[in-house]
Amino acid sequence: MSGLKESKRGGFGTKIGIVLASAGSAVGLGNIWRFSYMTGQNGGAAFILIYLGCVFLLGLPVMLSEFSIGRHTHSNTMRAYLKLAPGTNWFLLGGMGVLAGFLILGYYSVVCGWTLEYLFQSALGNMSGKEPEAFNSMFSDFTSSTLRPLIWMIVFLSMTHIIVVRGIKKGIEKSSMIMMPMLFLIMLVLIGRTLTLPGAREGLSYLFNPDFSKITSSVVLSALGQAFFSLSLGMGCLCTYASYFPDNTDMVKTGVEVTVLDTVVAILSGVIIFPAVFTFGIDPSSGPELVFVTLPNVFQNMIGGNLWAILFYILLALAALTSTISMHEVVTAFMEEELKISRTKAASIVTFGCILIGTFCSLSFGLLGHVKVFGLDLFNLTDFVSSKVMLPLGGMLISLFTGWYLDKNILWEELSNRSTLRFRLFKAYLFIIRYVAPVVIACIFLKEIGVL
Ligand code: PHE
Repeated sequence: MSGLKESKRGGFGTKIGIVLASAGSAVGLGNIWRFSYMTGQNGGAAFILIYLGCVFLLGLPVMLSEFSIGRHTHSNTMRAYLKLAPGTNWFLLGGMGVLAGFLILGYYSVVCGWTLEYLFQSALGNMSGKEPEAFNSMFSDFTSSTLRPLIWMIVFLSMTHIIVVRGIKKGIEKSSMIMMPMLFLIMLVLIGRTLTLPGAREGLSYLFNPDFSKITSSVVLSALGQAFFSLSLGMGCLCTYASYFPDNTDMVKTGVEVTVLDTVVAILSGVIIFPAVFTFGIDPSSGPELVFVTLPNVFQNMIGGNLWAILFYILLALAALTSTISMHEVVTAFMEEELKISRTKAASIVTFGCILIGTFCSLSFGLLGHVKVFGLDLFNLTDFVSSKVMLPLGGMLISLFTGWYLDKNILWEELSNRSTLRFRLFKAYLFIIRYVAPVVIACIFLKEIGVL
């Protein structure tokens, strides 16, 4: 690609910016909200062990494939396939990524909005002195109301919009450089607090002492699905970010760093959540409401409760925001380059589109609760179609594309920076994306859609 073209598209400026922005995409509600309740529902340490295997053996290789496609083409995720496989249907894989980005951002923003409401309520001190039952009704009253969740969702999407419009360097990179260190700092403070709780030992043993009898095929499949979601794989998100990487970025090292950071945040959020859960005798398998119903209850039982609640919801909102900007960027880059419109216009279309999708998803907790498609309400339908069907399908096709269709020299060139870097495990990487990843992902996929 010519240097001129690259600079016209903009790009990341620093190595640390690249790692923090990519880790920002990966670290999200998936690490804190989804990881903790899935660990709770799937038996703790045994789930985590399998999750680690999935992340490093399957997730990381697929991430390297996305990075290679993105940086080699320096284009949005659909154009990338048009350039690498002209005259074929592979561009549909990029198109599916864009669509998945749109849909995931739509329903994800609803949950992001909830984090703002909880932050607001904690800051006002409205969470203090409530009975456990009151948190249940607070959650269901709030999520089923019409206007309030919509307003918070729009606020969250507007924050995302403002950052994306500013571009890669001044928007995404700069904001990640501020938000990610804040996120780590808040995590450390919260860990300091929960590790000194009386239930810390029990919580940690739940997290780190595996009970292998708990491993079933469904635990393995949940761990795999979670690994892909958490690493932002399967929809061209990291492919789009990599299209803004300079040619000297060591992508293998970046991939390892992003994967490690994402995993560390997931485990540390377990270290924050489970000691608290055990200290106050709460069932760890309470499900998706763990961080919105169970935890507020736990916080209020701790000395200085409100402060911990405020910090926790800031943490959740920061993690979510660095992820929403990455999904937004996938679609904005596509619109901007394919419709040849300004970035501001492209981003506005994406924001309005997501507000529309998000509105339907949010109302499905109340006003539109009766609308069911295949037995699922609109929120769960969007979640199912995008993260449970499109992401694994996308991940599998990306492996097949890079493993079988794409010239191996292109992969080698990208991952070794034209043989200037060593990548000793290149053969192992190829083996995984050719054989292991497609088969294993096909299994998750068939399981998720109920065929297996
Ligand atoms: N990885 C993000 C999380 O853990 C979610 C995400 C999925 C972001 C797909 C971008 C693309 O919350």
